[in-house]
Order: sequence, then structure tokens, then C-alpha cells
Amino acid sequence: MTSTEAAFASGQSREGTQPGWVVMKFGGSSVATLPNWRMIAARLQQRLQDGHRVLVVHSAIRGVSDMLQMALDAATADEDGPDVADIRSIHVPLATAFEVDIDELLGDHLAELRQLLAGVRLIREATPRIAARVLACGELMATRLSAEWLRRQGLEVHWHDARELLCSSPRGHARQDYLAAVCSHEPDSQLATKLTAPGIHLSQGFVARHPEGDTVVLGRGGSDTSAAYFGAKLAAQRVEIWTDVPGMFSADPRIVPAARLLTELDYEEAQEIASAGGLVLHPRSIEPLALQKIPLFVRCTSRPELPGTLVGASARDDRPCVKAISLRENVTLLSMESIGMWHEVGFLAKVFDVFAEHGVSVGLVSTSESNVTVSLDANPEDLEPGALEKLVSALEPMCHVTRLNDCAAVSLVGRKIRATIARLGSAFATFEEHRLHLISQAANDLNLTVVVDQAQGYRLVQKLHPEVMRDATRDPSLGPTWESLQQRFQTATEERPQWWVQYRDQLLDQFGSQQCAYVYDLATVEASISALQGLKNVENVFYAMKANGHGAILDTVFAAGMGFECVSPGELSTIVERFPGIAPSRLLYTPNFAHREDYEVGFELGAYVTLDNLFVLEHWGDLLQGREVFLRVDPGQGRGHHEHVKTAGNQSKFGIPLFELERAAELAGQIDCRVIGIHAHSGSGITKPDSWGEVADILAAAARLFPDVRVLDLGGGLGIPEKPGDRSLDLERLDASLGAVRAEQPDLEIWLEPGRYIVAEAGVLLARVTQLKGKGQTRYVGVATGMNSLIRPALYGAYHEIVNLTRFGEDATDLVNIVGPICETGDKLGTERLLPPTEEGDVLLIANTGAYGRVMASQYNMREPAPEWTLERS
Ligand code: LLP
Repeated sequence: MTSTEAAFASGQSREGTQPGWVVMKFGGSSVATLPNWRMIAARLQQRLQDGHRVLVVHSAIRGVSDMLQMALDAATADEDGPDVADIRSIHVPLATAFEVDIDELLGDHLAELRQLLAGVRLIREATPRIAARVLACGELMATRLSAEWLRRQGLEVHWHDARELLCSSPRGHARQDYLAAVCSHEPDSQLATKLTAPGIHLSQGFVARHPEGDTVVLGRGGSDTSAAYFGAKLAAQRVEIWTDVPGMFSADPRIVPAARLLTELDYEEAQEIASAGGLVLHPRSIEPLALQKIPLFVRCTSRPELPGTLVGASARDDRPCVKAISLRENVTLLSMESIGMWHEVGFLAKVFDVFAEHGVSVGLVSTSESNVTVSLDANPEDLEPGALEKLVSALEPMCHVTRLNDCAAVSLVGRKIRATIARLGSAFATFEEHRLHLISQAANDLNLTVVVDQAQGYRLVQKLHPEVMRDATRDPSLGPTWESLQQRFQTATEERPQWWVQYRDQLLDQFGSQQCAYVYDLATVEASISALQGLKNVENVFYAMKANGHGAILDTVFAAGMGFECVSPGELSTIVERFPGIAPSRLLYTPNFAHREDYEVGFELGAYVTLDNLFVLEHWGDLLQGREVFLRVDPGQGRGHHEHVKTAGNQSKFGIPLFELERAAELAGQIDCRVIGIHAHSGSGITKPDSWGEVADILAAAARLFPDVRVLDLGGGLGIPEKPGDRSLDLERLDASLGAVRAEQPDLEIWLEPGRYIVAEAGVLLARVTQLKGKGQTRYVGVATGMNSLIRPALYGAYHEIVNLTRFGEDATDLVNIVGPICETGDKLGTERLLPPTEEGDVLLIANTGAYGRVMASQYNMREPAPEWTLERS
């Protein structure tokens, strides 16, 4: 048993006498499903049996708070948006599972909400006071449902309105007072007397009362803070935060799957991590507990067997170490330049007074003789409307102010951080090209933060993590990696195992004594095609053959009746030669910055040809006259798994910007070129299902300029789950969002042209282990091919799951880097992966390599990339 588990299991009170109060907070998807509530009920029973007094606080059902905010925004702008019926319907699945009458239980709250929103719509204004009342409804309704269900399970439950229990301490700025309220948290004997009845006491997180009686809310993530306030007021024995993730990690596991579980942190460390953007705990939830040394446990609702994270007053280890790397996005910087500040007494005081007057709190500060740069604590949209502009004008008389939006703050958090800087040099090497806007080292030496452009933040975290964790491998407070926890979980619960798990023996047999090979499973390709062909609102799907041009894959696509999206004469001729007589309507051609003759090839074949700039219309009128074409539009916002694959927005070379479309219509009219389709492809590896609906809305508006348009082609870009824990793209939701567009534009067809979605999961790269080596703390597993076969990790930092196929299922205990034979340090296929003890000759499998694998391979170092074959399923 680890010390975390031991501390958790002990039923002793903090004073070592009677079991005392336990405050349990449940949030996120934990409170959205019946199976989770069954687990919660079991846990509550357990606490009662152990003799504890239990106070439960929980959040709204997932999605409700966002929807309430959207409803408020829509009402304020008097626009269409979610209404009370939508908010009711999010609660229906849980109410149905609970077998409770939703209208009987939530009727009063829904009626209040209806009135509030109608009032806001009428006066077109949502004051912070009204907004807080609207937002609080989510928690109030969710706790009504859960209290009723828990009672039916035989538990004695006392539902409390949190406004009767928690009172805020206003700070004098309406928005903060109502929407980001704070409460005092000294031990409060009156609170305890309200909770004397035996059984479970249940109340809302996030919600409290203004001293004048109005409703206030505690800001995003405020339910953690509520739990901490209650814990401190009741001088609880402990506070437990039950959430969707197994604890706090050394980095956000969605960015670094090798992030380690932090099994123990002291309050200061936890505070630094939370403040620096760690997602699990709200920064305000630590101090109330730290003051009274109340232990805080972070646990996973659906996986109670995991130890989670214990935040407490642990014995301090004074060796320098980095515990975590946090990323905070959407950071705004203000850079204040003034020659006048040199030797001027009180300059900084004057500047910060202005911030205080405007209610804007400062995060990081760095100063020089003529410049002070600060980051703002809050996102600009969380401030009073116009507050930032007013602040800047008030500062202008003293200095020249430049505002830098869209930055990311990357923080190293730990002990004696200064001592670790020396070994971070290589991780910062990429920043020769990119600006570090601000560097700030906390005086307590617990935190070093750099601020970079938003687009670089993610990459910097990925680069820094292996560097800083290298020396920390033996730190006992670092638990397993996220990845390994996920793998253990998945083998137990996976509903749809990867095909290569099922066909492992055939794969190894077919591989025989080869060194490396790409292997494709055509049945998986067929399954993806039929999922796409099942989309009700998509008339036509073309396969973007740039993702994988292997003959057997093209044959599978052809046999399924699908068309091909081609980008070059080479791709077009491959198709027409392989499938003589293919209908031209199955060819979609989207060249970019291509030679005039390339376009001629497309027109001669009768393909749908896409133009993506005005130049072509302006200069090649003779070629385009009398033709039907598609226009590729830049929808403005790029999306995708990496900057290099975002194909919209000013930084991308693709598409006609929306403001040039009128001119395009004019030019097309002049040369009698009929625009029959509007096209956009905003990026690759997109996993938000509503993205295509959003693009379709933009294209539908653009289509109004072109009377002959009959098709909206939304491009490809459909992402796949890559990292452990990633979810599959929700195709049903994607379809539904397109349905809404179709309902408004019944005459326009919707087309898609995905590549990755069809082939990525169908391909694996097999590579034999050549050598093993340890260098310092880092261990390397060498394989027979590297970036010459698969360049995605080097080019995009792409993550591909890697397993030792020879030893599949054995305990993965060794943390290693998997590297190829190419003479480049970037020749890594995977960093910090857990594998079972591996030996020369073993076969490693690199998953999800069916798309953009072999097609992007090279003969660099005169090494042939891996050959391709298809799996013979037997
Ligand atoms: N349509 C157009 C116009 C495209 O440019 C692309 C991809 C697609 C469709 C297909 O996108 P997909 O569904 O496969 O995401 N090498 C990168 C991907 C580059 C994609 C380029 N264009 C990678 O390995 O992630």
C-alpha cells in the first residue's frame, strides 16, 4: 500500500480520535450517468459505515453550464440560441435513468429560468446579478435529481440550498462579486449546527449567497472551491475531489501521454500547479485547506482502485526537482514601455494602482529599465466588457502600452527550479525562431514561467517534459504514466479492440524474418468507408488519396463506389490507369499553386476542378471560359492536430478569403465560368464534431454570391483517436450538425473528402528491434526503420501508440525512447514509452500509420522505407 492509499484508507480523524467530517465533491461526467451514481452511492454508504459525517457537493451535469451561458448570451443579443427546452432535455437521460419525473422535480427551477431568460431578452442585458442566478440553476437542478435518486437507494439525504450555507465576501467589482465570488473560510460552528441530522448532507458546488441575499457563483471550476470552503468551515477530516481523471499529472496527458501521476504533493506545489493552469484542481481550492492542514484527495470516480493524488503537509524533500509542466492558454500580455521610469521613484506603484482601480489582476511581471511586461490573470472575456480598453487608456499617459493576445504560459513547477534550468537548453532551442515574450521566475523558486505564442505552447510542453522528467524517474512521489494507466484500463474495458490485437499471430507469421513493413487491414478500411457512407446528410464522399495510395486500398475504395480526391496529375493518372472508364464524376481535383497545365489535365478528364485563388480567374480566362468549377474558400479559422496541417486563416496559403469572394463572382461572370461548388478544407486531424457544420454555415453564406452553386464540399480532416484515452470522432453528432445546415439549404448537397479517417487505423508499421542502449537515465530501443518510413513524429510531434508485438500483454515496465537508424537526433518514433523488457529481434508495432505514413516516406540516408503489404485475415 502506498502512503497515499494508507492515508486514504485510515478512518481516523485528524486528531486521531473520532471519524470527522468528510466533504466529497463530484464533478464533470461523474455526475452525468447512472453507473457513476451507483459508484457514488456505494462510496457514500462506505463513508457512513466508517462513522464519518458526510457533506456532498456536486456540479451541474456536463454541458449544462456551457449551455446556460450560451442561453444567456443569446438572450442578451436577442438571437437564436439554446432555450429552456434544450436545458431541460440535457437532464432527460439522467432523469429517465433515475426513473424520476423531471417536470415534477425540476419544474420550479425551469420556470424560474424561463422567466429570467425572458427578462434578459426583453431588456437585452444580463447584469452579473441576473447571470449568477441563471448559472446557478445547473447545480440546483442536478442536485435535486441526485438527492431524489439517492433517497430511493435507501440513503437518508438532506438537500441544502448552498445559498443557505455559504456567504460570499464582496470585493467591490460587480462582475467578480457575482460571477467569481469568494467566501471566507474560517471554521464555522453555525454551519455545523445546520448539518446535525444523521445521513448524507448534499448541496451544490459553485453556488453561494451574497450578504444581501442574492445568488452568487464562484467562477469556472468553482465546485472544487466550494468543497474546500465547506471542508475548512467544518474543519473536516479530509476533502475528496472525485473527478474524471485519475489524479494530478506532471503535464496535461492530452499533450504528453507519458505524463506521470503525482501521487503526493504539498499544498504549495499543488497551488503552483493549479495556478499555472493544471486542469484538475481550481487554484482557489487549496488555500482554505492549507491553512488548516486538511488533506485533499483527488480520485477518479470510475476507477476508485487507483490511488489518485494526495495534497497535504508532506515532509518536504529539498532536492531540486520539477514536478509538473503546466500550460495556460489564451494569456494576454501588456507590455508598457517608458524611458521615464528609469530611476523614477514609485513608477511601478502608479502603474499597479491603475490596474487595481480597473479591477484587473496581474499574473506575471517582468521589468527592465524601460519596460514592464505583465500577464493578466483572467481571460479578457472574463473581465467587465471594455475593462481592458479602459485600463489601456488610463495607462497611456504614463507609458506606451502594447497588447499581445493569444499567448501561452508554460510553467515548470517544483522545488529549487533555478537549479534545473541548465539542462533545459535543448528544449528551448526551437525558440531561436520564436519569441519568448516573457520569462518569470517566482521568488519562492517553485515556478519558472515562459510566455510564448499560443501556437508554440503545446510543442514546448512536449519538448520540456522528457527533459525535466529524466532525472526524476526515481522520485517516489511520481506514479505511473497516464498512458500505462489507460492501457491497463483499456485492456479491461475496451469495447472495440484494435484489429492488430485480434490478428497478432497472423501479423507475426506474415512478417517472418523481415526487418520492417507497413501492413494494411482492408476490412478496417471497409468499415470506415461504410461508417462514412452511413452519414445521412452527406451526398458524396471522396477518398483523399494523398493519405495512402497503395493499390489494394484504392481498389477497396473503388469497390465501395466512392470517388477520389486528387491533388496532382500523378494522382489523377494513377486512378484513371487503374480504373479505366471510371466516371469523371468520381474525380475531384484540388490542386494548389499548381502549373496551368496541371489544370488542363483535370479539365480534359472531366473532373470537378477546384480553384483556390483569384489569380487563376484573372489570368487564365481562356482556360476557364465556359467551364464549371469549384471555388476553394478560406473559412477564416484553421483547425487540426498541428500548425502545419491547419489550412485556413492568414498563415495558410490555401483558399480565397471571404472578402475576395465578391470579386471572384465578378471575375467568373466576366469569363462565363460557372461556380457549381464551394469548397473548404480547414485542416487535418479535427476531432470536434461540430467543426464541419460550422464551416458549412460559412460556405452556405458564401454560396449566395454564386447562383449556380449546388454543392458545399467541406473537405476532409476527420480525426481519429491517437493517444490513449482519446475518443473517436462522434460521427452521429457531425451528421446532426450537417442536418441543421441542410434543413436550411435543402437544394445544396454536402460532400466530404476525408483521407485519414478511412485509412489511418487500418495501417501499422512493424519494425524489428536492432539494438538497446542506456545513456544516463535515458534508455533507447533501436528499430530497423525510422523517420525514413514514418516522418510524422519528427515533423509534427505526432503520437503513435507503440507496442512490443512479440511480448504483447506482458507488463510494460521500462520507460524508453524508440529510435530509428537515420542520422538525425529527430529520428524518434516515440518518446518516453512504456514497453515490457525488450530484446534484439522483437517486433515493435507502431499503430495508426495507415495515413500519411508510407506516402511521406523518403530514401534519406539511402535507406529504403518499409515495404507495404496487406494482412491476410484467416
Ligand atoms: N482535402 C484537402 C483539400 C486536403 O488538403 C486534405 C489534406 C484532405 C482533403 C484530407 O485530409 P484528411 O481527412 O486526411 O485529414 N501530412 C499530414 C496531413 C496533411 C493533410 C493535407 N491535406 C499528417 O500526417 O497529419
